[in-house]
Amino acid sequence: MSVQLSVSLLGSDYLNLKEDIARLKSAGADMLHLDVMDGIFVPNISFGVPVIKSIKKHSDLPLDIHLMIDRPYRYIKDFAVYADYLGIHYEAGGDVAETLKEIRGLGCKSCLTIKPCTEPREIFSLLPLCDMVLVMSVEPGFGGQSFMPSALDKLSALKKEIKDKGYNILLEVDGGINKETAPLAADAGADVLVAGNFMFSDALEQNAAFIKSL
Ligand code: DX5
Ligand code: ZN
Repeated sequence: MSVQLSVSLLGSDYLNLKEDIARLKSAGADMLHLDVMDGIFVPNISFGVPVIKSIKKHSDLPLDIHLMIDRPYRYIKDFAVYADYLGIHYEAGGDVAETLKEIRGLGCKSCLTIKPCTEPREIFSLLPLCDMVLVMSVEPGFGGQSFMPSALDKLSALKKEIKDKGYNILLEVDGGINKETAPLAADAGADVLVAGNFMFSDALEQNAAFIKSL
């Protein structure tokens, strides 16, 4: 199977979302990646439940919600209503295992995300509770940053552990994906590529086709 494309809407024009989402769907996007930022866990504030509710109303693409919020267990129920994949950060505080279980208990797929400072082996014991693992290839908080090559070894290490243990877990990478870095991430074992700025250009259709061809 080819890699899946999850498009980050962070860099989009929010007043054009309806048209852009329809365009992304016909271009072959598999999911919409929604970056929720609280200004505490990351130094930026984006959007929350009301915007996601509207997106859900106008699109049938699966929603891959990336929570960049402090102590995310406080808000799991609110986001689970709309999420297909609901992702929390390993570094965000609270009981990570319990939060992952709660996500599954609410009928969503669970995703555990690691920042560049976290080593894969730190989360190995949590993998049985994950349906997806997200490796950040930039410091979370902003779109349009450069891909950190150190993410490639992390992807390979996680892919090996997932294979060795026979887990059914998708491996996702987020940040700085473009024509040069997408093939590297796919070769390192990523199953799902998040792309933001790369998609919001005149070459949206070509860039989607490029990622889907990997
Ligand atoms: C960063 C976000 C990313 C970001 C990706 O904190 O998690 O999803 O929007 O944007 P690009 O692809 O532009 O790096
Ligand atoms: Zn993200």
